[in-house]
Amino acid sequence: APLQRLNTFGIAARARCLVRVRSEDDVRALLRQPGWDWQHTFILGGGSNIVLAGDVQRTVLKVEIPGRRLLREDERGWLVEAGAGERWHDFVVWTLQQGWPGLENLALIPGTVGAAPVQNIGAYGVELQDRFHSLDAIDLETGETFTLHHEHCAFGYRDSVFKHDRPGARGMGLRGRALITRVRFWLPRRWRPELSYQDLQRKVAETGIQQPSPWQVLEWVCAIRRAKLPDPAVLGNAGSFFKNPTVTAEQCADIIGRDPRVVHYPMPDGSVKLAAGWLIDACGWRGKTVGRAGVYEKQALVLVNRGGPQDPCSGGEVMTLARLIQTSVYERFGIRLEPEPVCVG
Ligand code: EPU
Repeated sequence: APLQRLNTFGIAARARCLVRVRSEDDVRALLRQPGWDWQHTFILGGGSNIVLAGDVQRTVLKVEIPGRRLLREDERGWLVEAGAGERWHDFVVWTLQQGWPGLENLALIPGTVGAAPVQNIGAYGVELQDRFHSLDAIDLETGETFTLHHEHCAFGYRDSVFKHDRPGARGMGLRGRALITRVRFWLPRRWRPELSYQDLQRKVAETGIQQPSPWQVLEWVCAIRRAKLPDPAVLGNAGSFFKNPTVTAEQCADIIGRDPRVVHYPMPDGSVKLAAGWLIDACGWRGKTVGRAGVYEKQALVLVNRGGPQDPCSGGEVMTLARLIQTSVYERFGIRLEPEPVCVG
């Protein structure tokens, strides 16, 4: 089965076998098939955080479980649930339409509800984990359904238990093994706009609106994203290609010595987060193209498919460009950038 339309990079790889999963029963039916081996499956959501390095020999499970509903409402807030296959942005808009604010800073993030906890999506001062209540998943090894609450997901910056193989710092390690079916969010009634992020501060200053509504924040976030990030429907990409690296205060001082303009954010624990986009930009990569893979003109942290749908770049070209960038950032700043998307195939 062709995967080109199922990954936002638009890479033209194929899956040996593709199964669309619309319910828990669909998953259980798969598990009953002779020769079932969960280690030969790959769970696919919106395909917005993957690089297809080649054809996928594993069985691709495309999660399309629908549904949105209010589970509980009380004087403190709303408990809302969505099926893993729902499009994230549509879900965010729907919650606002219902009068339940809280997810507006996460507007316009590509992908599905089920994929959102895997990398703990975050933007403009809010992370999924700040609104997350719990999720249901099916263990693809045993067929058991289980529920995980916040404390068992080991959320970190673009990280969770679903990204790790082995038991360890991130708990039991559920990579590839837990198929998330439903996710629940707790949205408190007591709402304040989250405007600490610099780009949002600028909107406040420009418009003079000090107390924006949830809709106003959503509109601002969408405008900021549209100005900085390429629409995957127009130019293939997987969002930020590298994580923003965290360094010690000493390392940061060393980097400031190399270039005092480095964009950095002190963290509560004393470490410092660096803007990977700035580091890449400083190395001269913004707007560059190697083969059919390129660095986006307006945001050096985003790698793009310059070949378009007709002559798309390969996963190999993307990874080659990524390695060139990693090498030059390492040589110039001594920082190792870690890719954010998952490389498959
Ligand atoms: N910068 C440059 N040159 C560039 C790119 C960025 O100088 O080419 C500077 C910017 O001027 C800014 C700083 O670097 O001062 C940070 O850039 P930006 O505000 O665009 O955010 P980011 O750190 O690059 C992160 C997330 C995004 C998220 C935004 C907003 C990561 C890896 N990326 O990007 O997430 O939307 O903050 O919160 O954490 C994603 O994960 O796919 C994603 C898009």
